[in-house]
Amino acid sequence: MKTEAALSDIVRDTLLGLRSSPKYLQSKYFYDDEGSKIFCEIMRMPEYYLTDCEKEIFSEQSAGICKAFGNGNAHFDILELGAGDGMKTRILISHLMKNGSSFKYIPIDISEQAMELLVLGMNRDFPALNINGMIGDYFDMMQELNSYDKNDKVILFLGSNIGNFSIEESTEFLQKLNHVMKPNDKVFIGFDLKKDPEVILNAYDDPHGHTRNFNLNLLHRLNRELQANFNIAHFSHQPFYDPDTGAAESYLVSLKNQDVYFGATGDTIHFNPGESIFTEVSQKYDLAIIEQLATENGFEIAENFTDARKYFMNSLWRKK
Ligand code: AVI
Repeated sequence: MKTEAALSDIVRDTLLGLRSSPKYLQSKYFYDDEGSKIFCEIMRMPEYYLTDCEKEIFSEQSAGICKAFGNGNAHFDILELGAGDGMKTRILISHLMKNGSSFKYIPIDISEQAMELLVLGMNRDFPALNINGMIGDYFDMMQELNSYDKNDKVILFLGSNIGNFSIEESTEFLQKLNHVMKPNDKVFIGFDLKKDPEVILNAYDDPHGHTRNFNLNLLHRLNRELQANFNIAHFSHQPFYDPDTGAAESYLVSLKNQDVYFGATGDTIHFNPGESIFTEVSQKYDLAIIEQLATENGFEIAENFTDARKYFMNSLWRKK
């Protein structure tokens, strides 16, 4: 059940985006129940190499990663932003528990349902794990935690989620994170690296149609929640990758001259044939950009970890 406030956010953001030129929709709205299900399918397909690469890094290098987390300090807690199902984190948790480390796992997510499932699954698989799930805005929750919990933290932000931010948004995010971190805290961020453009395009234009369904689900969602009348067959999924900037972008393109009516507000939005709606950026990085992001936002790189193909990088940063 949506609260009035959540409903008015999506109404406001959608109309603002569709009245702009060029048109856009915010990618955070991909993740309703249906979109989250489709995203799980995306993560399971071989073309979406990101998940397997990060899993490989964690499985092959868990000892080195956990050593770098501790850096001689026996005690640190693991805090995870946007934990989802915690699949990859389990690899690190399992390593730490086998080695008898004493730590707390603090996943933070805005979805109550996702958190319930995560905590249930973790309790089942790791009965001795000390887990304290928090539901809410990342920075509000971290601030709250700081007021009573002085333990050093390693903050995980995995899966190249940072890639879904624009340059300005990632700067704002990293500066806020730096501000809320204590002097000995570290952050461990997943970055998808630049590589053969065909490999990247294939991940966002897969032969199974999962990414297409994921993108078009945004319109289904607007039909469901804003009583819009998008004819889904009259829009197509168009991915694009620019090897120079590293931006993989997704669009929905109108296949004809058409009007779409929003029953919830009484608004009508016009689409020209070939007109596109920008729906998502999935930024790809190289080491120079990662170093620049770290230093310009008050961090220094402690250690980098990559998979064998050098497709993906998990970068551990400390405060400068
Ligand atoms: C969540 N995020 C890192 C995914 C990505 O790769 O940008 C979302 C996604 N969009 C299409 N496929 C996957």
